[in-house]
Amino acid sequence: MKITVVGAGAVGASCAEYIAIKNFASEVVLLDIKEGYAEGKAMDLMQCASLNGFDTKITGSTNDYNKTSNSDICVITSGIPRKPGMTREELIGINAGIVKTVSTSLVKHSPNTILIVVSNPMDTMTYLAHKVTGLPKNKIVGMGGALDSARFKFRLAEALGAPISDVDGMVIGGHSDVGMVPLISHATRNSIKVSEFISSQRLEQVKQDTKVGGATLTKLLGTSAWYAPGAAVSGLVQSIACDQKKIYPCSVLVNGEYGLSDLCIGVPVVLGENGIERIVEIELSDNDKSHLHKSAEGVKKTNALLDA
Ligand code: 2OP
Repeated sequence: MKITVVGAGAVGASCAEYIAIKNFASEVVLLDIKEGYAEGKAMDLMQCASLNGFDTKITGSTNDYNKTSNSDICVITSGIPRKPGMTREELIGINAGIVKTVSTSLVKHSPNTILIVVSNPMDTMTYLAHKVTGLPKNKIVGMGGALDSARFKFRLAEALGAPISDVDGMVIGGHSDVGMVPLISHATRNSIKVSEFISSQRLEQVKQDTKVGGATLTKLLGTSAWYAPGAAVSGLVQSIACDQKKIYPCSVLVNGEYGLSDLCIGVPVVLGENGIERIVEIELSDNDKSHLHKSAEGVKKTNALLDA
């Protein structure tokens, strides 16, 4: 199993590290445009192999896409991260050009690959990858919901005073500070609805904290987060690489599902060897449904900037 990660910055290197530590891939190629950067990160990561007990071979390349040929899965993290006070949508001017070049180069060298898009604004970058590569729709996955759901579970566990392993929850919708839809009514503490333990006011706070999870970290760190994004990507990669058929909320091209079409937005999907095995349509409250549709309007507004 060969995995390519484009962008050897904090997110890309964390992706490569978590993928390697899970030890299911034979090879990870880390690629960056900065001379020697990916090679250095790959070498540093390989020097963890004996310490972290993995056999995955990590190599680095300075923008040589030949080294990525015949990758089973390619992860796109390249582009600029946001600064404190910025929205993800404000990155489109620079990141759209990068994602267009990177995705076409990857597919040229790995025509059968499955693309995972991380670069922001992620839902729009995922949609752009569809437009420029023409890959089958099951082979392009946007990573945002898996990260947002992890932040949702963190906040729920905090409010519950419970171990995170006892908490389950999912965030759908756009990967944006205003467009996310944390599914409170579906969230559970060991199969018991969280509303049995937490007041509606406190749940509203959990929802708000989840939605600005990324921005909160950007304010603290001065740049976007990288550990949880990297870990979230590694879960998606493993479900595809090992045909685990796990359900994750991912940004996928919808064509009628949830009453939405012609955009990429976070919905529950089964991830397996074919990429998106299927989109799972779950029962949503009227409130969640209207939030999802409002979120879709926001994503489509950002998509429209691609043609501007
Ligand atoms: C985040 O939410 C980078 O969009 C990513 O941290």
